[in-house]
Amino acid sequence: MKKLLATLAVAASFALATYSANAQTYPERTITVVVPFAAGGPTDTVTRLVAEAMSKDLGQQIVVENVGGAGGTLGAGRVASADPDGYMLLLHHIGMATAATLYRKLAYDTLNAFDYVGLVTEVPMTIVARKDFEPADLKGLVEYAKANADKVTVANAGIGAASHLCGMLFMSAIQTPLVTVPYKGTGPAMTDLLGGQVDIMCDQTTNTTKQILGGTIKAYAVTTPKRLDVLPDVPTTDEGGLPGMQVAIWHGLYAPKGTPAEVTERLSKSLQLALKDPNVVARFAELGTVPSPEPDATPAALKAKLEGEITRWKPIIEAAGQYAD
Ligand code: MLT
Repeated sequence: MKKLLATLAVAASFALATYSANAQTYPERTITVVVPFAAGGPTDTVTRLVAEAMSKDLGQQIVVENVGGAGGTLGAGRVASADPDGYMLLLHHIGMATAATLYRKLAYDTLNAFDYVGLVTEVPMTIVARKDFEPADLKGLVEYAKANADKVTVANAGIGAASHLCGMLFMSAIQTPLVTVPYKGTGPAMTDLLGGQVDIMCDQTTNTTKQILGGTIKAYAVTTPKRLDVLPDVPTTDEGGLPGMQVAIWHGLYAPKGTPAEVTERLSKSLQLALKDPNVVARFAELGTVPSPEPDATPAALKAKLEGEITRWKPIIEAAGQYAD
């Protein structure tokens, strides 16, 4: 028995030594960041910009893997069950918090399945439509939607997605349910908006700014208290007659639960650097957003944000009584 205990103690100290040695030399190979939505959409865009900058600092390639479906919960589930070694990460948005209540049968326990790296950005939303959609402004859109509720189609990226939440806020503000059309992300939804297969969408500026400025889609409003520098001609929801319809979409970088603290700290430092990278700052500005400040790009700040947002959305979703299952 004594011999067995001694053997176990040696094995344990060897495992511990290997583990911390790995944490000290991390990263030694390619890192994967899962985006829980389709390629070409707003989460994908933000992730690729940040991953490129982090890769320079970490000295390893970072590949982005798109695992879309079920409002982001499939991708989150994939990372929740990955090895906690720092080589599989998740970049997700507000949907991480809302899905915790919207999905009563999630494959993971949101608050216990992840470790935290830091907040990444907070992105304004825009209410947009296909280019030839009839209403000329937000007031006209509200009147048209109320009169044609069974015909107006609203694209979103599945239940719990940012576009779904924003679409729900719009329908609730005008007290009219419209026809929703779910996609695996607003990348493919944008393709259909451009092609005229769907009428309207509420989506992040990181996916809509280029199309709005290029005149390939119509913009009715930004969901911010003030107009955006990058879209000075687009009125706010307040100006357009929907006061109080304001929403911004925060994003965070996560690792599976059990990732060594040295690794999440290393990733957090790299994230902070990436968010100051001149290319990231400039591209974010062109897309109507700003990187999270350094104190927010930390494990503690993301943990507090996620906990606070789950608490904030739970009673709202429960009162609405609408779940994903
Ligand atoms: C959303 O609506 O949640 C996002 O637009 C998802 C995406 O990145 O496609």
